Amino acid sequence: MIKPHGAETLKPLYVSDDAQRAELTKEAEQLPSVLLSSGAAASAVMLASGYFTPLTGYMNIAEATSVAADMKLPNGLFWPVPIMNIVPSEQLTDAVKNADRIALRDPNVEGNPPIAVMKVSAIETLSADQKQLLIEKTFGTTDPEHPGVPAFADVGDNVLSGPIEVLNYSYFPEDFPDTFRTAVEIREDIAARGWNTVVAFQTRNPMHRAHEELCKIAQREVNADGILIHMLLGKLKPGDIPAAVRDASIRAMVQHYFPENTVSITGYGFDMLYAGPREALLHAVFRQNSGASHFIVGRDHAGAGDYYGPFEAQEIFDGIPEGALEIGIFRGDFTVWCKQCNEIVMMRDCPHGGDDYFNVSGTRQREILAAGEPLPPEIARPEVAEILMEYYQAEANA
Ligand code: ADX
Repeated sequence: MIKPHGAETLKPLYVSDDAQRAELTKEAEQLPSVLLSSGAAASAVMLASGYFTPLTGYMNIAEATSVAADMKLPNGLFWPVPIMNIVPSEQLTDAVKNADRIALRDPNVEGNPPIAVMKVSAIETLSADQKQLLIEKTFGTTDPEHPGVPAFADVGDNVLSGPIEVLNYSYFPEDFPDTFRTAVEIREDIAARGWNTVVAFQTRNPMHRAHEELCKIAQREVNADGILIHMLLGKLKPGDIPAAVRDASIRAMVQHYFPENTVSITGYGFDMLYAGPREALLHAVFRQNSGASHFIVGRDHAGAGDYYGPFEAQEIFDGIPEGALEIGIFRGDFTVWCKQCNEIVMMRDCPHGGDDYFNVSGTRQREILAAGEPLPPEIARPEVAEILMEYYQAEANA
């Protein structure tokens, strides 16, 4: 199987030994603590799961700046997005300032229980210029209207860095018992299925026809034994479809339209950044860590609005140092409904054009649903459309 990123074996930061974890949980309850931002808590889940191998915790300012500016840590490791724990000043009590070890509390679970214990390596203050650079490089914009920028810009200026040990996977195992999986579990599953070539698919949407075809084309072209559908289960921007509904529609689509035992449906606990190209690189890193040999990057991957060009998230892979990643990238063209072919096609494989095409996108799908109109078969399979329309109707009547 493909090697994890920058390491021989995965480095999940979850404390898997029950006795050790119980002891650490007890210690965490006594330690000075901070309440994490949702993004930092999601990063703890990713670190716990082995997805962020070989990181050992949250970055300090020098590390984060190096990652933002040059896509590498000061030690040379390729890494595309700062992974930070930034808190507002009210969290920085004297007890926290003077502690060697602190507990990190989870904002997404009732009662805010500790999710991790951190050894405090440094407490630093982010200057306005540093913050601007981190945001600009990561998102390509500092526009506060960008759906990912405020989650970075508005969390405070105090950077707490250091290695962490993680006590739980937040709300993900309870809310998504059939779908939430760690990188460790996915590697085990791939091995158990006897798959060698695995193409991973990132999604934050219920899968429409273009998504389905993209997976099928990629599987054919890289000759993959299996497809890893790996959906985001964390927080999204308003208007995006909640994970439970997406999960149900993806399962319906796979059940009816993919051969048995060719797809593994899984999810990971991270909040969507909407950072386009940089997020595509991060996505590739953690699919390599999950044991996938290939990763699909289509049009406007991880984008939002018009912040990124349709293929910027593919082009960024051309500029990274050779050998930075081992995972192969399958680059998808626009995938559309062709009226002449009477099927979904990838534009580069189809002789038609212009008016023959009907654009299939998550945004279009959401717009039709929000208007209370039926989803046409060009966009969604009927079994999927039914689930989505039911959800929108329930929302409209709520
Ligand atoms: S994302 O934010 O998770 O990237 P989404 O779930 O819509 O959003 O996309 C999942 C993957 O499918 C991405 O790689 C994206 O580029 C690709 N994709 C979505 N729609 C299309 C399309 N119509 N044509 C080509 N690729 C697409």
